Amino acid sequence: MKTLIQTYTLSNGVKIPKIGFGTWQVPNGDVAYQSVALALKNGYRHIDTAAAYQNEESVGKAIKDSGIPREEIFVTSKLQSHIKTYAGALEAFEKTMEALDIGYLDLYLIHAPWPWNEIGKDCSKGNVLAFKALEKLYNDGRVRAIGVSNFNTKDLDNILEHCAIVPHVNQIGYFIGHNEKETDDYCKAKNILVEAYSPLAIGHLLKNNDIQDMAKKYDVTPAQICIRYCIQKDVAPLPKSTHESRIIENAAVDFEIDAKDMIYLDSINDDPRKW
Ligand code: A2P
Repeated sequence: MKTLIQTYTLSNGVKIPKIGFGTWQVPNGDVAYQSVALALKNGYRHIDTAAAYQNEESVGKAIKDSGIPREEIFVTSKLQSHIKTYAGALEAFEKTMEALDIGYLDLYLIHAPWPWNEIGKDCSKGNVLAFKALEKLYNDGRVRAIGVSNFNTKDLDNILEHCAIVPHVNQIGYFIGHNEKETDDYCKAKNILVEAYSPLAIGHLLKNNDIQDMAKKYDVTPAQICIRYCIQKDVAPLPKSTHESRIIENAAVDFEIDAKDMIYLDSINDDPRKW
């Protein structure tokens, strides 16, 4: 079976396609609409957006216009990172659903443990309140799974200690040279699926000589090495592109990186602060 239509199973039994299509920084309107339409046309069945991306409307429209039955597409959105109250989270969810207009959501995530303009701020109480709102949405059948994003082990401990549901997903920046081992180990131990945003390090890794050499060895592209690496780490990559040829390329990862080469890729230390 093609990797693109293979699934992981979340801890609640819900199936999620292994490769998702990311839409961060894809502007609302024609660009977001066309990219999502192209992704769906080329077989992607997992689309990732967020209120903060401000493109939910176009993403939703592309999903509706695709003619693909709603239940065949796995859709994720996220609660804006500054919203840390129970009522605020419920209200924001309704806005997201209005913008997407697709009936229900497959996965709803707290976008970050702190507002993006106050990275590192202690919002542990607010994260619990927001997550309890997500639990209500889940229990009410509005979303099929709930989770968090950009949470480290301490942030996750806080949720596990004070909430009833263990998040089904933690979406983090994850790529070769930045594989967040501590968070990944923690999530695997608690059966929380890790999703990898920016699996190409926003394109930075495509220039890495070691990755280029390995791509030649397997007769694939550097992007395909980066995406396949995530799959073999049992993580769900969310590559994004606005170009059809790359959308197709990023999904064509039906090859196997051998164990020795995976260890080699693990050893690459391409300092992410340089990009
Ligand atoms: P574009 O949209 O112009 O194709 P990441 O997923 O790590 O955030 O990386 C996304 C960036 O990498 C985007 O700038 C995207 O540009 C570019 N990109 C995506 N796929 C490929 C690819 N297969 N080859 C080269 N660049 C790519």
